[in-house]
Amino acid sequence: MKTFILAFSAVSPVLAGFDTWSPPGPYDVRAPCPMLNTLANHGFLPHHGKDISREVTENALFEALNINKTLGSFLFDFATTTNPKPNATSFSLNDLGNHGILEHDASLSRSDAYFGNVLTFNHTVFEETKSYWTDETVTIQMAANARQARINTSKATNPEYQMSELGNAFTYGESAAYVVVFGDKTSGTVKRSWVEWLFEHEQFPQHLGWHKPTEMFQEGDLNRYMELIQNLTNTEQPGPGCPQARSLKNKRTRRA
Ligand code: HEM
Ligand code: MG
Repeated sequence: MKTFILAFSAVSPVLAGFDTWSPPGPYDVRAPCPMLNTLANHGFLPHHGKDISREVTENALFEALNINKTLGSFLFDFATTTNPKPNATSFSLNDLGNHGILEHDASLSRSDAYFGNVLTFNHTVFEETKSYWTDETVTIQMAANARQARINTSKATNPEYQMSELGNAFTYGESAAYVVVFGDKTSGTVKRSWVEWLFEHEQFPQHLGWHKPTEMFQEGDLNRYMELIQNLTNTEQPGPGCPQARSLKNKRTRRA
């Protein structure tokens, strides 16, 4: 028996890893989150995308992205709130698309619920986002500009536009994440080719030079960059010392 297991494991494919990737099959489910889909396509999360536990989530985020388990556990708690079953202790990737819990309008690569499917990649929406990534290296300022542009477009075109306080916090978190979780948290930048590949293929772009971040990513890093994006949003501010500037800033702080 032991020999059989050894022989079998020697020939069986590795089920999870950066070199393992396959797209979702007809019975697999996916999320409105390009990163969780990528993790499932590589097998760090179950490829079927269903009934994902806390431990599996923490391990996947840690092994693929060096996200510490405290932050992984914190994100898992949000994910379970989208599972319609009461007192759920797991979630499926498609639960995350339940509109108005975590999923929100003005996504970077998905339609608003009013217009269509919030789970699948939308080329037109993503073209708008990409138009704000104006250099080979995407900066936090560019991420802030893209985020705000998508919100402006949704407000102008979607008669049922909505953004809850939690949804809004997630928009900051997501824009920070593609730059500093997937990219470089020290410089606050990411290569445009990497992030485009991630969104468009839901695959880690190792062939473009991407590798797993060497530094551990923690909750404090996320908070710092979310705050920075907030500060870099609405850059058309009256100069410092001007009374208008102070009242605008106060209003923005109250709304945030
Ligand atoms: C989008 C959940 C981890 C990057 C989303 C959305 C949800 C979500 C619900 C959809 C929001 C919307 O656009 O309507 C989660 C959960 C995670 C997780 C529960 C962990 C357990 C990550 C990580 C990254 C990431 C580690 C790192 C890059 C993104 C990005 C979007 C997104 C960039 C925006 C997609 C878009 O606007 O089109 N995530 N996510 N997420 N997530 Fe995640
Ligand atoms: Mg959305």
